[in-house]
Amino acid sequence: MSFPTIIAAAPAVGSQPKLSDNTFRQLRDFIYSLTGIYFQDNKKYLLEGRLGKRLNHLGIDTFEEYFQHLRYGNRREQELGPLYDAITINETFFFRNEAQFEAFERTLVPELLANRKTNGQAKLRIWSAASSSGEEAYTVSMIYLEKLKGKFPLLDIEVIGTDINSSVLETARQGVYREYSVRNMPKTYLEKYFVREDNRFRVKEIVKQYARFEYLNLYDEPRMRQMRGFDIIFCCNVLIYFDTQSKIQVVSHLYDSLNHGGYLFIGYAESLHGISKAFTLVNFPKTIAYKKE
Ligand SMILES: C[S@@+](CC[C@H](N)C(=O)[O-])C[C@H]1O[C@@H](n2cnc3c(N)ncnc32)[C@H](O)[C@@H]1O
Repeated sequence: MSFPTIIAAAPAVGSQPKLSDNTFRQLRDFIYSLTGIYFQDNKKYLLEGRLGKRLNHLGIDTFEEYFQHLRYGNRREQELGPLYDAITINETFFFRNEAQFEAFERTLVPELLANRKTNGQAKLRIWSAASSSGEEAYTVSMIYLEKLKGKFPLLDIEVIGTDINSSVLETARQGVYREYSVRNMPKTYLEKYFVREDNRFRVKEIVKQYARFEYLNLYDEPRMRQMRGFDIIFCCNVLIYFDTQSKIQVVSHLYDSLNHGGYLFIGYAESLHGISKAFTLVNFPKTIAYKKE
């Protein structure tokens, strides 16, 4: 007499835990309350996949246990960093939106300097908000060195890159990039401002000296109130992850962070329609910017 084979129900080591709809909603609301990032129902797979790896790493079997760990565990504060690192999408590259950088170089900087009425002597403060691994911030530094420093010898710049993901900030501070990041960069920049190390590209100190990187959650209101006195803000390709309410909150803080006469750039697929009426929309070839009058 033969017996049917019984397959054990326990999850295999390293297997993918399943995220129930209920726990997905709890996790989604928790993440939203802290970051403004909103996972639509159709993005459940993303949380399941990315956080599943984190569960495996922690040796936690279920998302229900992980949620308890995040809410009430004695290391809940320490888990927020890895949570943010796991859920954020950090796609970026040098010279990502060339039209914005052209407007920056050809119009914004000359105009901002002219308005200073200080015989050209000025420091411009530029914020790469949601900088990811720093490509946008270093692109600004390189354009300053290549195109602006000679034309405006008394101009100085300070570029601050901020992000919620600590590991991409570490990459930004190291300044070492893969081929993927530099693929869109004009060859002259690559040759002049990078050192090739095997199949990596290290940005030179002369570029790094103008940029620094800090952890900052754009949804953290007290922290946002400390960000003041910027002439230009690049806040590109991050608003897409927020819902309308968090977009309104973040954009209103960005407005307060700008000096009068300053400009905000957002991603080419993003818009402030229905989010803010405070800015004047300014058209440039192939791009737009939002001005604080
Ligand atoms: C797709 S990248 C955009 C990088 C760069 N700005 C660009 O346009 O190439 C989006 C970045 O936003 C960051 N991010 C998402 N939510 C954030 C928040 N609440 N505060 C700060 N950064 C956030 C992510 O960590 C990620 O690095």
